[in-house]
Amino acid sequence: MQFQGKKGLILGVANENSIAWAIAQEIMNAGGMCGFTHLPDRPDDERQRNRRRVSQLTDKYENAAFLLPMDAQKDDDIRSVFEQTTEEFGKIDFVLHSIAFADRQDLGRDTIETSRAGFALAMDVSVYTLLACANAAKPIMNPGGAIAAMTYFGGEKCVPGYNVMGICKAALEAAVRYAAYDLGPSDIRVNALSAGPVRTLAGRAAGVEEMLKLYDKMAPLGRNITHQEVGRTGAFLLSDLSQGITGEILHVDGGYNAMGSPGRLLDDLKS
Ligand SMILES: NC(=O)c1ccc[n+]([C@@H]2O[C@H](COP(=O)([O-])OP(=O)(O)OC[C@H]3O[C@@H](n4cnc5c(N)ncnc54)[C@H](O)[C@@H]3O)[C@@H](O)[C@H]2O)c1
Repeated sequence: MQFQGKKGLILGVANENSIAWAIAQEIMNAGGMCGFTHLPDRPDDERQRNRRRVSQLTDKYENAAFLLPMDAQKDDDIRSVFEQTTEEFGKIDFVLHSIAFADRQDLGRDTIETSRAGFALAMDVSVYTLLACANAAKPIMNPGGAIAAMTYFGGEKCVPGYNVMGICKAALEAAVRYAAYDLGPSDIRVNALSAGPVRTLAGRAAGVEEMLKLYDKMAPLGRNITHQEVGRTGAFLLSDLSQGITGEILHVDGGYNAMGSPGRLLDDLKS
């Protein structure tokens, strides 16, 4: 029960396939209490679909303490979520940032054709929000607390198709290092988990299907990673088990990032 007595925020559950949900389940099963946010519904959406999709999951967990709307592009929403978290929890021990967005049109065209507005949007949602949430979390985090973000290898190397989101992930990884420096004196750690392809809403938009085939052949493990594997490592980064680790990018990708050649895929190319 690694999270017994610990409380924190999970930002970025959209549905049961979300990486944030895989991490939250590990935390709650290990005794942690989680507060959740969902993307706000349009006022004219009577069915409140965004909220419903998440509440269907969280309602089943006693350790899911609350569910609040938050558009991370809105400072007022972030402020309100952290105020309500303080009212509910007092101090917190962890924050998961599992949020990214880019316009599909920008993902579908050459990176150099990215629109100015699309670039600003993707960077705002996928990078700036980590800084904003880390800043909002600072006054209410216990010493020993941890923040984790989600990244992808396309931020380290060129992964065609990942395009503007690759640039966002490079910036996000830099943001992790700078936030780790800022929060270190408060004994708060900041790390990122670099996951291999996983079938999710965001994953599909970023071309996960082809990547799954590639990783199957190229990764040293010769297979893709599972939701549960990402969940466990995410929980590890947010737990006391990872004390002493900060500013780190930890890969959960079957070892794909270690490869310098197509590996076993070469056999297919030869034949
Ligand atoms: N799926 C993959 O293959 C993969 C691999 C590596 C990293 N990641 C990263 O993992 C994270 C989570 O993505 P996922 O794959 O679980 O997909 P997902 O679609 O389930 O999660 C993305 C989340 O971002 C949220 N979001 C988008 N715009 C927002 C905004 N303005 N305010 C608040 N929330 C907003 C969505 O509501 C959603 O909950 C992302 O950072 C993604 O880039 C995904």
